[in-house]
Amino acid sequence: MRIAIIGTGYVGLVSGACFSDFGHDVICVDKEAAKIHDLEKGVMPIFEPGLDQLVARNAEGRRLSFTTDLAGAVDGAEAIFIAVGTPSRRGDGHADLSYVHDAAREIARALTGPAVIVTKSTVPVGTGDEVERIVREAAPDKPTWVVSNPEFLREGAAIEDFKHPDRIVIGAEEEQAREVMREIYRPLYLNKAPLLFTSRRTAELIKYAANAFLATKITFINEMADLCEMVGADVQDVSLGIGLDRRIGSKFLHPGPGYGGSCFPKDTLALLKTAEDHHAPLRIVGAVVQVNDARKRAMGRKVIRALGPKPRGKTVALLGLTFKPNTDDMRDAPSISIVQALEDAGVKVRAYDPEGMEQARPLMPKVELCQTPYEAAENAHAVVLVTEWDVLRALDMKRLARTMASPVLVDLRNIYPPEEVAAAGLKWQGVGRPSVEPT
Ligand SMILES: NC(=O)c1ccc[n+]([C@@H]2O[C@H](COP(=O)([O-])OP(=O)(O)OC[C@H]3O[C@@H](n4cnc5c(N)ncnc54)[C@H](O)[C@@H]3O)[C@@H](O)[C@H]2O)c1
Repeated sequence: MRIAIIGTGYVGLVSGACFSDFGHDVICVDKEAAKIHDLEKGVMPIFEPGLDQLVARNAEGRRLSFTTDLAGAVDGAEAIFIAVGTPSRRGDGHADLSYVHDAAREIARALTGPAVIVTKSTVPVGTGDEVERIVREAAPDKPTWVVSNPEFLREGAAIEDFKHPDRIVIGAEEEQAREVMREIYRPLYLNKAPLLFTSRRTAELIKYAANAFLATKITFINEMADLCEMVGADVQDVSLGIGLDRRIGSKFLHPGPGYGGSCFPKDTLALLKTAEDHHAPLRIVGAVVQVNDARKRAMGRKVIRALGPKPRGKTVALLGLTFKPNTDDMRDAPSISIVQALEDAGVKVRAYDPEGMEQARPLMPKVELCQTPYEAAENAHAVVLVTEWDVLRALDMKRLARTMASPVLVDLRNIYPPEEVAAAGLKWQGVGRPSVEPT
């Protein structure tokens, strides 16, 4: 099947590469000429494990190509996916749908025959209706069907998630559209990935409900961690103790510095706005957003406390800056608020991240970015583990302790065994667990 993908970001590029790997004929479109130019040369605009090989293999097989020419890509395509960004609208937190609406208008102008238009971007309930209206108005004589097919992939594991999804949600009102979607996803269906057909509005809401639920789970365990610290309990055991209950499940119960990234923060906010507009307030989600926002800066204060009574002029080394491992995405990363809180308190910040430093640089211009974790830790008064990259999971604690001005590890992901850190001569301080002094 011939597929056009509008928007070649995380979702568009991964979807396009995977669809072409299934044997479809895919053209990925982006407005950014530099991005397309790089992709044509095999240079990936994002860091995502395995993506460069997948793109190279399918580009060589002539199933995958890149262009800035939207009209050329839409001409003859049976399915056109909209995978453009839907950031928070400045000022009010609603999803900014201008990119989606613009893409719909451009697609409508370029249509040459019947096509299914699929919204893969995360969009509020009712957006499919508006896309349909825009397309019908601009191309009244072209048979089109507008479908919602939200994407659930995780950055850092995007290809695996796309090829082995827990489910594929398809919101379609007409059988012709369902048929085209079945054909597109047939390779996954053969592998028994459940295809869930719903109404278009339901599919749009499923995506937000899923993200809000996961954000709630993270925020729940983070608050529980705070309580553990106050009562001398251990959140790791609380997490295990509740997670083993199959009704609860162990995923997303790891305490940390708060959720960030390109999806949870903006999607929880946009869901609240939708709920407000429809007079059905989501109070739980509202509390989650507030608690998470406050938490990021509170983590900065936690680090400041670890520096003792006079933090001003001291140095902190942050290890890991991206919002999670295996991505270079810095959008709404907790590290940004932590740096801000530290700098506000007069603390000097040095940092290391395996992939995210280029993206981080403009967001934290005063931070000294270092080439290794050990270089970052030199003469620091505390090392803070912010993101649990694999390369940061087995640091030589004795070496760290030797180079630091005062050996303190603030482990915001609880990945190091406190006793081992203490035995190497550092104070260990985690989240929701008792601290351990060096032995
Ligand atoms: N990043 C994720 O992990 C993830 C996961 C699931 C869903 N989503 C959703 O998918 C959507 C896309 O997210 P992303 O992270 O891939 O965004 P992104 O910002 O990385 O990429 C969007 C791309 O679309 C391009 N674009 C915008 N308008 C265009 C137009 N008219 N024509 C051609 N190209 C255009 C931009 O230049 C950009 O390259 C969002 O709605 C997001 O919420 C993202």
